[in-house]
Amino acid sequence: MIKSLSQYKEDYRKSVEDPAEFWSEYSKSFFWRKEPGNILSWNFEDPDVKWFFDGKLNITENIFERNKKNENDTAIIWEPNDPNEKNKELSYSQLFKQVCSFANVLKALGVKKGDRVIIYLPMIPEAAISMLACARIGAVHSVVFAGFSAKSLSDRINDCKAKVVVTSDGNYRGNKTIPVKDVVDEALKTSSSVKSVLTIKRTNSKIQMVEGRDYWYQDLIKSVKNYCAAEMMDSEDLLFILYTSGSTGKPKGVVHTCGGYMIYSQYSFENIFQYERGDTYWCTADVGWITGHSYIVYGPLLSGAKTIMFEGVPNYPTPSRFWDVIDKYDVNQFYTAPTAIRALQSYGDKYVDGYEFRSLKVIGSVGEPINEEAWKWYYEKVGMRKCPLVDTWWQTETGGIMISPIPNVIDCKPTYATLPLPGIQPILLDNDGNEIKENNREGNLCIKFPWPSILRTTYGDHKRCKETYFSTFKGYYFTGDGAKRDDNGMYRILGRVDDVINVSGHRIGTAEVEDAINQDVNVVESAVVGYPHEIKGQGIFAFVIINNLKSGYDYSSSIRLSVTKHIGPIAKPDNILIVPGLPKTRSGKIMRRILRKISSKEFDNFGDTSTLLNPEIIDLITSLYKDKINK
Ligand code: PRX
Repeated sequence: MIKSLSQYKEDYRKSVEDPAEFWSEYSKSFFWRKEPGNILSWNFEDPDVKWFFDGKLNITENIFERNKKNENDTAIIWEPNDPNEKNKELSYSQLFKQVCSFANVLKALGVKKGDRVIIYLPMIPEAAISMLACARIGAVHSVVFAGFSAKSLSDRINDCKAKVVVTSDGNYRGNKTIPVKDVVDEALKTSSSVKSVLTIKRTNSKIQMVEGRDYWYQDLIKSVKNYCAAEMMDSEDLLFILYTSGSTGKPKGVVHTCGGYMIYSQYSFENIFQYERGDTYWCTADVGWITGHSYIVYGPLLSGAKTIMFEGVPNYPTPSRFWDVIDKYDVNQFYTAPTAIRALQSYGDKYVDGYEFRSLKVIGSVGEPINEEAWKWYYEKVGMRKCPLVDTWWQTETGGIMISPIPNVIDCKPTYATLPLPGIQPILLDNDGNEIKENNREGNLCIKFPWPSILRTTYGDHKRCKETYFSTFKGYYFTGDGAKRDDNGMYRILGRVDDVINVSGHRIGTAEVEDAINQDVNVVESAVVGYPHEIKGQGIFAFVIINNLKSGYDYSSSIRLSVTKHIGPIAKPDNILIVPGLPKTRSGKIMRRILRKISSKEFDNFGDTSTLLNPEIIDLITSLYKDKINK
């Protein structure tokens, strides 16, 4: 573990001078069934990256068998949605038995190495258990955030041709109960690959069970053994697929493989959170996102940590819930998203004042840029000005944290993710692909050398992977983010430079939302942009052209319904403006930068508009929006 700045510098130097040697050294503490013969082969042209090639392993053996001497340590603490319900604690040995039982249930359903399993679950222990059960038998999990709609779920099932879906009879979320099994039933009307649905009892809601397809997990588990031998995996075999949005088309399945992901999730977890045995660590993310994969499940469990899984939401039953949970378990490391911080801040200090947070040693932020005000509030009110605040920058595609302070090693600086971890080689490029060597200039953030948990492909479509990440700047991995570097080499992430919006830390492609809006029969065309939003970071603004506009009709509700149906409530536009036309270039492209300005209430200095076919539309849209604001 990195404990000093000089050690960081030394490790960083080694990791750049001889990356294979650096990671080979680190990989020695893992349990390999067969040691890797070749540490790294790569090119960013195809792209083709292989780490620990030829090595044989199973990631769950590295969680359970490798750490057997600590099997009585607590692995997972589960805190339910309702604070009055009893929580659960699972030791490593108990978790291991449950993972093995789950693995045996999957096997009984015919799941084999390489098969895809969709996990559509709330934050209950079975979410982690089912992921690990897949990993145990070499099946590839693809967790889908349980807030996604039936259409989104079926798109993902169809894309990876999943054999099994794991779900529950319902989800608790704050004071709501969400009928997730109904969503699965709906999704399966348009998905033929699924042979079985494994349903976990959580809410005792009345649901339909389809004979021969749907099984209660609680029934099947009764007849299986609680030991299951680990499948031997190649380092480059698939561990999981996680779907994420980009600027174009449908969400793509980001592929992570066994060896590199295992190494990097542990390495980054240990260093960024400086986890010591006995500490209690809590990441508030959902396992439906990469943060939940790497920093609730794999990173902490590989490190033998005690990790909290939280089923609820930050403001239920009160906006003190996070602080109550920190107090209840004496949490030492706390990791959350800026949107949650801003939301909790907006309720007023009375909900946080009075808590002392004596146990906290590190607080973290992830998912979107954290603005200075939120940073300071978090640092002062929760970190009590004593805890380093790690602003961690990374992505679904990077598998693990890339740029972040290391507590008590690298100084924190508000709004800066600061320095790259060893092994990570960032570079800023201008739009022509030239390196920006001087400091304090904005550029496109790229990475010039592979790290162990870089995505390997996008599932079923390698060309898309190449085009999305490796073609904009030849020879580099392009992150899609803009950044700048200060005079101390520290990076500040400025947000997406492509057509991706970051809403409450969720990545949403503008094209996806437009597609969903255009499904509404009233809509002729739409354009979606992100705009600054006080709590969500970015909000979704939709400019929509309606066919045969009638006064008095509630088009906004109908549009929002369409988005909820096609994607899910997280992608619902915050602001909808009905417009007579959209600013288009002669080649028919929508000039989004103009819409971005209008949505941000910047009503002048539109820059060069000479290529517009219909420049008069700018004034029209502007006055419509001003009217709306003044109403
Ligand atoms: O724009 C960056 C933003 O979130 C994007 C990645 O989103 P996703 O793949 O969903 O993963 C989120 C959790 C890792 C990035 O391209 N982002 C993530 N962390 C930060 C951030 N932006 C600024 N600061 C961060 N710390």
